[in-house]
Amino acid sequence: MHHMMLLSVHTTADGSEEGVGLMKGLILSGGKGTRLYPLTYTRAKQLIPVANKPILFRVIEAIRDAGITEIGIVIGDTGPEIQEAVGDGSRWGATITYIPQEAPLGLAHAVKISRDFLGDDRFVMFLGDNVIQGGIHRLISDFDRHHEWNSQIVLTRVDHPEQYGVAKLTSDGRIERLIEKPKEPPSDLALVGIYMFDHHIFEAAEAIKPSWRGELEITDAIQWLVDHGYTVFPYVHKGWWIDTGAPDDMLEANSKVLEEVEPEVRGFVDEHSEIDSRVTIQEGAEIINSTIRGPAIIGEHTRIVNSYIGPFTSIYHHVLIENCEIDRSIVLEHSVMRDIGIRVQDSLIGRHALVQKSEYRPRALKLKLGDHSKIGLT
Ligand code: G1P
Repeated sequence: MHHMMLLSVHTTADGSEEGVGLMKGLILSGGKGTRLYPLTYTRAKQLIPVANKPILFRVIEAIRDAGITEIGIVIGDTGPEIQEAVGDGSRWGATITYIPQEAPLGLAHAVKISRDFLGDDRFVMFLGDNVIQGGIHRLISDFDRHHEWNSQIVLTRVDHPEQYGVAKLTSDGRIERLIEKPKEPPSDLALVGIYMFDHHIFEAAEAIKPSWRGELEITDAIQWLVDHGYTVFPYVHKGWWIDTGAPDDMLEANSKVLEEVEPEVRGFVDEHSEIDSRVTIQEGAEIINSTIRGPAIIGEHTRIVNSYIGPFTSIYHHVLIENCEIDRSIVLEHSVMRDIGIRVQDSLIGRHALVQKSEYRPRALKLKLGDHSKIGLT
C-alpha cells in the first residue's frame, strides 16, 4: 500500500489539514453490564443510546474525529449484536476489525489479544461505555507530537476514587503510583477509560499477574511501564467524563450530552404544541398537543400526544407517549407509556416496555417487569 494511504487526514476547525501518523484505535466492548440489569440482559450496554445515539457510536465518532480510521473493537458475549449494529465502519469512513475475547479477563488482557491488529503502531484505547466532554482530538495530537512519550493517560477528579484506578502524582506532576480500586485512595484523581500507548505496553501486559478480581489490570501494566523507566504522561482532564456503568450514570451522561446537541426539528409539531429552542425532533416524529422543554430529543417515528416532556429527556425511536409527564429520563425503542397519573422522573425505561393505567376497575397499576426492576411509588 502507498504510504499516504496509511495516513488519516482530517480538517480542523480553522480549515487546516492535520494527519495522525499511523495511529490506531482500540475500543473495548465486551463486559456484561450487570449494573444495568435488567436493561442489559439482552442488550450490550454500549448500545444503549445517550441523547438518542448508542454510546459506542459516540466513541467511534470521537476516535474518527481525532483523525484515526483504523479501529479494532474487542467483543465478548454480546459480540454478534455489536457487529450487527456497527458493521464494517464505512458509515463513519472507518475500517473496523473485530477481536473476540473469550472471557472478560481484564483490560490488559484485551490489549494482549489485540497485538496482531495493533502491530507496532501507537494506539488509543477507549472503553466503549465512556463519554468525555470535548472528544479526544487534542489528546491524540499531543500524543502524536510527543514521540518520546510511551504512554499518555487521562486523569480526572472524582468523588469516589475507590471505584476506579487512582493516580498519585509527585509535586511536579509526574506519576508516582497507580492503584486499581484502592480501599484508601491516595488522591481523588481517577483514571479515565482513555489511554494512549506504544508497543511497550505488550511487554508490560505479559509481565503482570492477575489482580484480586482475577483480571489483568491495565492500571498494573501502566505501573510496570513507570517502574521500568518508560515515559507515561498524565493529562488532567477538566471537563466532565462519565463511565456509564449504572443507571444514574446513564441519566447523567444523557443530560450532559443533550446540553451539547445541536437542536434540529425534522418531524411534525402541531399548532397546539409548544417546544423550546433546545429541542430536537427527529425524522417522522409527531408532537401533538404537547409541551417539550429542552434540552430534550424525540426519536424517529415517535408520537408524543397530550403530554409534557421535561428537560434532560431522550425518547428513542418508535415510542408512543400519551397523557404523560416525563422528566429527566430515557425511554428506549418501541415502548408505550399511557395515562400514567403521576410524573415519571429520573427513569430508564427499556425496550418494548408497556406502562399504563388500566381502563377498567379496579384501576390498579398492572405491571410486567423484568428481574431486578425498580419502581418507586408514592
Ligand atoms: C476500569 C479500569 C479503571 C478505570 C475505569 C474507568 O475499571 O480498571 O482503572 O478507572 O475503568 O472507567 P472497571 O470498569 O473495569 O471497573
